[in-house]
Amino acid sequence: MNVFQISGGRQLVGTVDVGGSKNTALAIMSAVVLAPGKTVLTNVPNLSDTRIKANLLERFGAHVVWDGNTLEIDCSEMYQGEADEESVRAIRTSFYLLGPLMARIGHVTLPAPGGCKIGARPVDFHIKGLRALGADVALNGGEYVVSTKGLRGAEIYLDFPSAGATQHLMSTAVLAQGVTIIKNAAIEPEVTALASFLNRMGARVEGAGTSTITIMGVEKLNACEFRIPADRMQAGTYLLAGAITGGDVTVRGILPEEQTAVVNKLREAGADVDEGPDWVRASVSKRLKGINVKTMPHPGFPTDMQQPMAAVLCLAEGTSVVEETIYESRIGHIQELNRMGANIRSQGRTAMIEGVNGLRGAIVEASDLRAGAALVLAGLAAKGETTVKNIHFIDRGYEAFEKTLAELGAKIQRVHAPDLDGSMSNVDSE
Ligand code: EPU
Repeated sequence: MNVFQISGGRQLVGTVDVGGSKNTALAIMSAVVLAPGKTVLTNVPNLSDTRIKANLLERFGAHVVWDGNTLEIDCSEMYQGEADEESVRAIRTSFYLLGPLMARIGHVTLPAPGGCKIGARPVDFHIKGLRALGADVALNGGEYVVSTKGLRGAEIYLDFPSAGATQHLMSTAVLAQGVTIIKNAAIEPEVTALASFLNRMGARVEGAGTSTITIMGVEKLNACEFRIPADRMQAGTYLLAGAITGGDVTVRGILPEEQTAVVNKLREAGADVDEGPDWVRASVSKRLKGINVKTMPHPGFPTDMQQPMAAVLCLAEGTSVVEETIYESRIGHIQELNRMGANIRSQGRTAMIEGVNGLRGAIVEASDLRAGAALVLAGLAAKGETTVKNIHFIDRGYEAFEKTLAELGAKIQRVHAPDLDGSMSNVDSE
């Protein structure tokens, strides 16, 4: 029902204090069920995804209290509850509750997560890993039923360093008997943050942040307090928002090493970038140049920044080639950017971008979270008025997006516009 209305053409200048990481919070919110007692998470982004996840936890017996960005989750009494299919399908990480809930209560049933707009998103690595750890896994009439008579450590090799499978299996293994070794593990910062959380609860996880993670099973865990670290995707998005408007934006309260790929690509395109202990500043004083970008698992260029970066490159001088290697169809932004005057040709997972001198405002439709962010960035730089529809996708990943952008000088507002409601469904399953 709501849209963003943007009057483009203003440079963004200023500093953003970056909020907590959505994907870390979602992973940790699966693992909280492992420990009886009240876990307190601070700096949790209050987003539709984290709220849905909190509601799901309540279905299995957790008591959840939000206080701003603090989330208390009391998992003293967990039981075999029933999750509603809509919530499970709306956020992919609901599936990552299976292993930890099974470790805690022995038997869980959850609807299958399904595919989404950015690709098929299979769960085969998760299933293989859960079975290796001693779970019985069955798919009955669209629902996964998992149970165990006792989890045991195992050696698990992932065919691809999947962030979600690494997090799910790591969380499941902490209460297994014996040692689990995950090889070809994802080394994303969200995996390392989850391992810190698990260790804070009393788990023994070593090697997170490398491709081999070792988990020594423990008998029990304790609820704890944990601060969710800053969101590297939000940070990258605000840097790119500054860049596309020829502005000067500093993101603060972050780990600069998590921005390495974005920072290097911005520098290659001609931006000036400075870094300090907990901040990165990017400023653009002349037209950027076209560059090539290829998404890779961490520490490569993050797939989540591919679409916002493509928006920036639409206005760069010359040709850019942006290749998506993680997802089959993270391309929902292309057609919409072209409606704003961009010149992008796509071939499979590759976008060939011929830089144009300017974009023009248009009515465009977000198809997923990061495509939505890309369209907002384009609108900030475009001449005239842009209306971005389907902003419920954007609300999944950016708390107070329009407020933060407005503080940097953007003219953007959230407007109730039922007549402009988009046709896209609510399911993109980040
Ligand atoms: N894959 C499989 N089988 C599996 C699991 C994954 O083939 O069992 C494939 C996927 O289809 C994909 C690749 O492995 O092609 C990588 O997927 P991964 O499992 O790493 O992604 P994810 O854990 O499902 C998380 C983030 C995504 C982010 C990716 C990659 C969350 C909630 N989501 O997804 O975030 O793009 O890692 O870094 O943590 C977003 O925030 O916009 C978003 C989509």
